Amino acid sequence: MRKSIIIGNWKLNGNQNMVNELILKIRQELDQIIVSCTVVIAPPMVYLERAAHALVGSNILLAAQNVDINTIGAFTGETSVQMLKDIGVKYIIIGHSERRTLHKENDILIAKKFIAVKEMGLIPILCIGETEAQRKSGSTYIVCAHQLDSILKILGTSDIFTDVVIAYEPVWAIGTGKSATPKQAQDIHKFIRNHIAQYNIKAAQEILIQYGGSVNSINAAELFMQPDIDGALVGNASLKADTFALIVKSCK
Ligand code: PGA
Repeated sequence: MRKSIIIGNWKLNGNQNMVNELILKIRQELDQIIVSCTVVIAPPMVYLERAAHALVGSNILLAAQNVDINTIGAFTGETSVQMLKDIGVKYIIIGHSERRTLHKENDILIAKKFIAVKEMGLIPILCIGETEAQRKSGSTYIVCAHQLDSILKILGTSDIFTDVVIAYEPVWAIGTGKSATPKQAQDIHKFIRNHIAQYNIKAAQEILIQYGGSVNSINAAELFMQPDIDGALVGNASLKADTFALIVKSCK
């Protein structure tokens, strides 16, 4: 049985007060109830330690939104997996479309980040997904398969899909208010799972594949009812405690 995972990706939002208040409110909503999924928040890097303190005594876990491939040394401005592990981070988002597009991260860099995260025993949340143009040209499946295969090709082992989360995030759905329909998302999640099964059947059955892209408190429940959707990577809607809590509560 896979345990679904809901991750709040705060992106470049917040300040010290907001971090304290949002976590306090999320805890008020979720700490007293039995939650059937894993709940994770990904505040901006600079607030992760503050968030770690604010989460003491809660089951909510921490993710980072990015990481460097290097472990130590003269890499100005970077943060290593070790540093994140040191302050209690468990998951690291990699390959997000905003980083692929705005920060020109390519498949090789993403694969290196993937292995750096796994080597330190943390869990990569690997984001994949097609653009609007790719969808319209009918290449959604090819794009998703290519993004998975490029990791495999670079790392060269089928074990890589254990202790990993895949986030299928169609780029056209991110921040647009236009989510994929449950059926659209389910079809692609199933394709992703079948694709991984070609390499490793056990890993394919166990791997968590979450959906991301304009998930909100209204569309979440139906998305989560799909057999191959194991939770969500939530952007905008994770910045409001009540909305985020409703999404978590709709994950059965
Ligand atoms: P969104 O973002 O929920 O605001 O569409 C999702 C994401 O980018 O992870």
